[in-house]
Amino acid sequence: MNAPLVVGNWKMNGLQTEGLNLARQILRQINKNSDGAEVALAPPFTALPALAKALRHSRLKLVGQNCHWEASGAFTGEISAPMLDELRCEYVMLGHSERRHVFHETDDMIARKLNAVMAHGMRVILCVGETLAQRRRNKTNAVVTSQLDAALKGCVKGVIEKLEIAYEPVWAIGTGLNASPEQVSGVHENIRNYLRSGYGKPKGSAVRILYGGSVKPENAPTLAEIKEVNGLLVGGASLKAETFVPIVHAFNKK
Ligand code: PGA
Repeated sequence: MNAPLVVGNWKMNGLQTEGLNLARQILRQINKNSDGAEVALAPPFTALPALAKALRHSRLKLVGQNCHWEASGAFTGEISAPMLDELRCEYVMLGHSERRHVFHETDDMIARKLNAVMAHGMRVILCVGETLAQRRRNKTNAVVTSQLDAALKGCVKGVIEKLEIAYEPVWAIGTGLNASPEQVSGVHENIRNYLRSGYGKPKGSAVRILYGGSVKPENAPTLAEIKEVNGLLVGGASLKAETFVPIVHAFNKK
């Protein structure tokens, strides 16, 4: 297993200079304690060129928040995998719950995007997770498994080596509600079993499974103790160095 991965998802926040300042602050502070977790930032697309330049020789990696499945064409308002690759993104996040639920992205679209990202040599952070209604009906593992199936079943060969999974319960994103350690561990174990049975033990064990949903400096140490939590996807708390850096530090020791 590689080092844990902690990703800051800035969503639609921050102008270029704000993003640059934040990235520089984060970098300065994480460099004081430099071994341990891999750290990546998912800024708005408009900040990517400035960050790509400023972070070129640093340990901070870049993540695209989304991308289209075609490389170019008449798709107003979209961005493509080669464009993100050109901006030095090492990862692309796909299937985030805001994309699925606010912008109505389907499993089929996510599967097509996944193939496009793979074709351009970047890694995918595939987000999965259940709504509150689905959890209440005890459908959590079934929903997560069907999201994984839909994204991965028809995917290009070798996908497993370029994949991170982020489990984010929809009801915990931006709400301040926390999944309990038992809930997190149950779903992560289920994802791990899915990966091992589909791709074999060595490959299925090497995929990092991140957790996301109202992660804060207060709950990061508990999450770091859960066996199958191999990193985090952090939204609101990644918008300030003073809340993001302690979260990274919680995973430096893992
Ligand atoms: P949050 O967002 O940490 O603000 O809940 C997480 C995410 O959407 O990835």
